Amino acid sequence: MPKVSIVDILAAKVPENSEALVEGWVRTRRDAKGFSFLEINDGSCLANLQVVAGEEIAAYDEVKNAHTGAAVSLRGLVTASPGGGQKWEVRAAEFKVVGPAAPEAYPLQKKRHSDEFLREIAHLRARTNKFGAMFRLRSRCAWATHDFFRARGFFQVHTPVITGSDCEGAGELFRVTTLPAGGGKIEDDFFGREAGLTVSGQLEGELLALALGKIYVFGPAFRAENSNTPRHAAEFWMIEPEMAFADLRDDMDLAEALIKHVVSFALDEAREDLALFDRFVEPGLFARLENMAGQAYARLPYAEAVDLLKTSKKKFEFKPEYGMDLQTEHERFLCEEHFKKPVFVHDYPAAIKPFYMRLSDDGRTAAAMDLLAPKVGELVGGSQREERLDVLEKRMDETGMNKENYEWYLDSRRFGTAPHAGFGLGFERLLMMLTGASNIRDVIPFPRTPKNLEF
Ligand code: 4AD
Ligand code: MG
Repeated sequence: MPKVSIVDILAAKVPENSEALVEGWVRTRRDAKGFSFLEINDGSCLANLQVVAGEEIAAYDEVKNAHTGAAVSLRGLVTASPGGGQKWEVRAAEFKVVGPAAPEAYPLQKKRHSDEFLREIAHLRARTNKFGAMFRLRSRCAWATHDFFRARGFFQVHTPVITGSDCEGAGELFRVTTLPAGGGKIEDDFFGREAGLTVSGQLEGELLALALGKIYVFGPAFRAENSNTPRHAAEFWMIEPEMAFADLRDDMDLAEALIKHVVSFALDEAREDLALFDRFVEPGLFARLENMAGQAYARLPYAEAVDLLKTSKKKFEFKPEYGMDLQTEHERFLCEEHFKKPVFVHDYPAAIKPFYMRLSDDGRTAAAMDLLAPKVGELVGGSQREERLDVLEKRMDETGMNKENYEWYLDSRRFGTAPHAGFGLGFERLLMMLTGASNIRDVIPFPRTPKNLEF
């Protein structure tokens, strides 16, 4: 007996009047005289399958026990549905409750629940329409990312999760230790030295780019950022390509192409799931995404961005000032109100950027870029890297770094150094941009945020 997915039945990939074995979870059941209608969802797509089970089947008692949330297994004929609303249905001949769900106790009854409530039962929320759609979309966007790089000759590399270096130098490293609570000597610790969870795979990624030419990292990053904002998670996933023999412009071109590819892919291949967000989360989502896939993004130097903010009529909580980081309100003004599309801001003051970014000839700015996108603010952060050994060492000294820990990194500049560039794209922020979700906690199955370590 062929086991079939509901997505295939609904796409008419299963011949009419053939037998099928369907397994999934009951969304609703409606009893009529002598038979019942069940809506079954198996996670393969947003839509449910209608199942008709009449009292002539031996297991009709089982049907009456199939409450919302129960796992069921059934066998029956795939037929054209006479009722409106669906094309196909299955007439059950055999029916079994595999795992019951008590009707009074199951928290997900047929009504709309708030995101806040669902966050509290994140272990069950993937069974709702919205979160099922979200996590299918998340997976598809990961496929699209791999497709994108593969088609362009990039190799995926796996960089360490446990590391001894702090790429961003922002002091947000989670420590990794086997020392007993309360302390102990660092020599006795597992690695015999300070260790932490990676904040970015970039530094190791650079080493591989200076060997394989074009690489990307797609892995988790960890930051003990105390900012309890809707856009920051302590554990998030980052896509980090790195290209040898490339400059900042190549970097921006690559980021723009990647985003357009993923957005187009989602519009084409995840339309049913996206439509849920267009309908219930952000009316007009499709138009916004089509816009993002279709038009060139704005690009302007940081100094011009600051001028633009200063001369705008907008009242900001934080006054824009040259030499300061752009605040979220500034970023949103630029992409949502001024340009009304994604904006690359580039050539930031070197002083507010990490050590590895290439110092420009003016001696004040670094070859850095951030992509600011409507809805999420900073979506991408990247740069051309400092490939000149002397300039890099000077910068490391200025920022108070211990060069001894980075000899391996400096070696890449001692031997066969070459211009190179890369960026990091926050995968959760990409999903927020794609769905209109306003909280990062709703685009990752089990979010990690300050004071929150459920599951
Ligand atoms: O701008 P960031 O800090 O850049 C880096 O880490 C570079 N080493 C990347 C590189 O060049 N290879 O982070 C890159 C992106 C941000 O633009 C944002 O989208 C995301 O990562 N990000 C976060 N996403 C969720 N939660 C957080 N706490 C994040 N911090 C950064
Ligand atoms: Mg950044």
